[in-house]
Amino acid sequence: LIKAGVHAPYSCQQGFCGTCRVKVLAGAVDHRDGLLTETERQAGQALICVSRAQGDGPLTLDL
Ligand code: FES
Repeated sequence: LIKAGVHAPYSCQQGFCGTCRVKVLAGAVDHRDGLLTETERQAGQALICVSRAQGDGPLTLDL
């Protein structure tokens, strides 16, 4: 996102501060953070500094 010029706030870049938290509008997330609860993940939140799309599927993020 940063390389593409998209404004995406971040801090730790390691999945524990929550600064990069976004709402996922569509797609399946491979969560790699150590912060979000299962409830937050099920609610469609993701920490995009470390998490990514599962498989080849795209993610639609509410930036
Ligand atoms: S930048 Fe800290 S969790 Fe993503």
